[in-house]
This record gives sequence, C-alpha cells and structure tokens, in this order.
Amino acid sequence: MQEALTYDDILLTPRYSEILPADANLDTKFSRNVPLKTPIVSSPMDTVTEHRMAIAIALEGGLGIIHKNLTPEQQAQEVLLVKRFENGFIIDPITISSEATIDEIHQIEQDKGYKKIPVVDEAGVLVGIMTEFYYSWPHDQGKIVKNVMKPASELTVAAEGISLSEANTLIRKEKLSVLCVVGEDRRLKSIVTRKDIEKNKKYPNANKTTDKRLFVGAAIGVGKDALKRAELLAKAGVDVIVVDTAHGHSKGVMDMVKTLKNNPLTKNVDVVAGNVATENAVKDLIDAGADGVKIGIGPGSICTTRVVAGIGVPQITAILEGVKGKGENKDIAIIADGGIKLSGDITKALAMGAQCVMLGGLLAGAEESPGETLFIGGRMFKSYRGMGSLSAMEKGSKDRYGQEDVKDTQKFVPEGIEGRTAYRGPIDKTLYQLIGGLRAGMGYLGAATIEKLALRAKPVKITAAGYIESHPHDVIITEDAPNYRRK
Ligand code: XMP
Repeated sequence: MQEALTYDDILLTPRYSEILPADANLDTKFSRNVPLKTPIVSSPMDTVTEHRMAIAIALEGGLGIIHKNLTPEQQAQEVLLVKRFENGFIIDPITISSEATIDEIHQIEQDKGYKKIPVVDEAGVLVGIMTEFYYSWPHDQGKIVKNVMKPASELTVAAEGISLSEANTLIRKEKLSVLCVVGEDRRLKSIVTRKDIEKNKKYPNANKTTDKRLFVGAAIGVGKDALKRAELLAKAGVDVIVVDTAHGHSKGVMDMVKTLKNNPLTKNVDVVAGNVATENAVKDLIDAGADGVKIGIGPGSICTTRVVAGIGVPQITAILEGVKGKGENKDIAIIADGGIKLSGDITKALAMGAQCVMLGGLLAGAEESPGETLFIGGRMFKSYRGMGSLSAMEKGSKDRYGQEDVKDTQKFVPEGIEGRTAYRGPIDKTLYQLIGGLRAGMGYLGAATIEKLALRAKPVKITAAGYIESHPHDVIITEDAPNYRRK
C-alpha cells in the first residue's frame, strides 16, 4: 500500500541563498488567464467569501471566489459589487426608507457604527440623507425619517463616473461629511465619506484586470441551475468560474466543464474544476477543458469526508499527484485547497508544485467574512461552517455532495461540521503574516519566485518526535504571536 503524507509529515531543508524575504516575487496564477500577485485565494464558502472578502483579498493581490449558497441573481450581484469597486467609494452603503423611524437609524448606528445613512425609495432612488445632525435630538425619538431628513433637493450629489480626486475636491469645497453618487436615473450608486478619504489606503499590489477592475471568481455546482448561474455570472463580468464539488473526478463535473467551454456566454471565462486528489483526475479534467484544478479531498478544517466516507488523500501526496497529472501543461494551475493551518503550510504546498493555495478557516475570522461577530465569554468569534454541514446544505450546497435530490433535511448525510473561529480583525493583517511566512520560506530556500520554490525544494519526511520539536515545547506560552496559534 502506498504511503501518503500531509503538511505536518514533512519539512523543507534549507539551501544556500542570496534571496532576502522582501525580494521574493510572489506572482503566480489561479488559472490559465487569472493571475495572482499573492498566491492566496479565499474559499467559496458562505462563511468566508462574499463581495467584501473578495474585494479585500484582491486589493492585497489575491482572489476571492464568491460562494453559491445564494440565488444566481444574488451571486451575480456580489460579482458586480466587486467589479464596480473603486478605492474610496462605498458601493453597497446601508440605506434606509423614508418611512422608517429614527429608532431604526439609532439601531443601525449601534449595530454597524454608521452615522451617515442615505434615504432611498423602493427603486433605490436617493430621496434624502440622515446624518447625526438630523437624528440626534432627544425630542426627535420615534419620528419618521421623511419628516426629519435633509431632502435630496437640498443635497450636493455627484454623477456616477466621478473620480475619487474629483469627489475629494467636492467634499472639501462644499464642506460635506458625505457625498452621494447617483446614476442618471437618480438611483444611489455609492457614497464617499470624508472619514474614508482621510483613512484611504493605497493598494499597490491590487489584483486588477487591464480595465482596472478587481479580479473575482464565483462557484457553481453541477445541479439544475448551474448553467443559468454560470451565464449570469459571466454577464456580471466574473473572471473565473469554479465548478466546486466534493468529487471532481466525476462525469457530472467533466460534462459541466465541457458545457461551459462550449457555451457562447461562458466560453471566454476561465474554468477551474475540483476537488480531486489523483493524477488521473487532474489529467481528465484538463482534457475536459479545465484551466485550473483544485486539489483536496477531506483536508479542510471543517471537513468530515475522510471519516464519514472513508475517502481522501493526505494533502502533500494529493498535491504531488496533481502536479504529476498536470505534467507539461504549464498554463494550468494546481490549487492546494484546504488543510492550511499555519503559514509554513503555504510554503510547503507551493514547494510541492501548487501555483496557489485556497483558504477557508484561516480567513473565516476576518472582519470581511460574511456574518456577525459573536461575543462569547468576553472573546470575539465568527461562525465557520463546512459547505457540507447540515445547515449549509439546507441553504443550498447539498449538490456539492451529490445530494441535490434529497428533499427531507433529516436525510442529509453531512460531510462537514459547524463551528466558530477566533475573530481576527481586518484581513490585511492576517495576509501580511501569511505572506511574511511564505517570504521567509523562500528566503531559506534561495527561491526568487514561486516557480523556483518548487524547483529548489528538498522535502524531508519527519517523525512524531520531529513534529513535536517543530512546535514550541517545554515552555508555557504567555503571549500569543500574530502568526502562531496553540492547538
Ligand atoms: P480549510 O482547512 O482552509 O478548508 O478550512 C477549506 C476547504 O474545505 C473544503 N470544504 C469542505 N470539505 N466538507 C468537506 O469535506 C465540508 O463541509 C466542506 N466545506 C468546505 C473546501 O474545499 C474549502 O475550500
């Protein structure tokens, strides 16, 4: 029987180096035509990637894949929000109806911290604005917004297409605290606030197309609505469609890849397919037309596939299989999906020949992941659940696990669990540490690029004693490091 290894079973031996971590070049790709400036992609999971995560990760050079536990229209809207993103503009501001009460405004302020709230009608047309000045008087409690707001007729608004520097000038000249940007039909498109301009950050590493839009991907399944979903996503401008299933080496997935590649609306969009863990599966998916293949059967932190179904391949071996299957197809990307616990695992995945990694658990605690922050025992958490967990399958992801026709939720056979993970704040800090660890690894190996990392890697298999030696030992950790967690 073949032996199979995972991240904790190996280490990479150091080599002579003239490369400093800061000099390492992280350019790579997610698929044939979708480049990455940082080899990190966020998972299409409903507790990980919607537009906020996809924007935040693309701004740092990576890529977000929008999950599909949404209607096709909602998912396409999420893609549009990423595509329309312009640094400094808030493209999905919280709005309120003119019939709402001041109490509702106070609730938004309390829950979200926003103090400037545009008022729109049912069609999204801007009818006024509420700022602290209009709703903070005690005698106004309980009043209706339309009787208190500043009406649109008295507002300075900007037309869609205004640049950030023009918006800036207008805000300064008119002494505004918020500028609403509207389309020709007066519908609210975005807002720019003075506060956001003051703290506006530059993103020199943003992952953008030639027309200066952020790259974004989205997942589909192989179920009944999959093609319609893919067409809507393509119309919204998605750069890559991920056929995301638990068993990618299957007729349904290969047929879907072929369909997408032959459909007039989707044939120009890259297609990534998965998940698989063998050489033959990768070969077959490439033959079907895939531009990238996702590797990982059961390594994920929320996965139970290996223990429920008895199926899987430890991730280092699975990546090596994938790289063998890719062979000389240099344009195709191998994506190591799941099981990454610490930054050193990213170095190991890329050293084995993957072009990038996909992360769920390490990003689910970010401010930008979907879902509210939970306070438990004085600590902050966010929910994180497998797409094969009972609650996620109820929301729609059952087709990922071949259970699309199961109507009775009592009959689901889950392959994932529901849990929570520590809240980690804005994602740029997490990415900084993950990338910092990878850069350090490239420095140790003398690898100037990700391609060289794979060429120079000399892995060694370690024992249980080596594993214990690798982690902090014989000491009580008194302060958490930003890049190391105790189990
Ligand atoms: P990490 O380890 O980053 O893994 O949290 C994320 C990846 O796990 C996969 N995934 C699942 N696999 N049951 C599974 O067997 C599930 O419920 C499940 N949900 C997600 C997926 O590939 C993701 O990117």
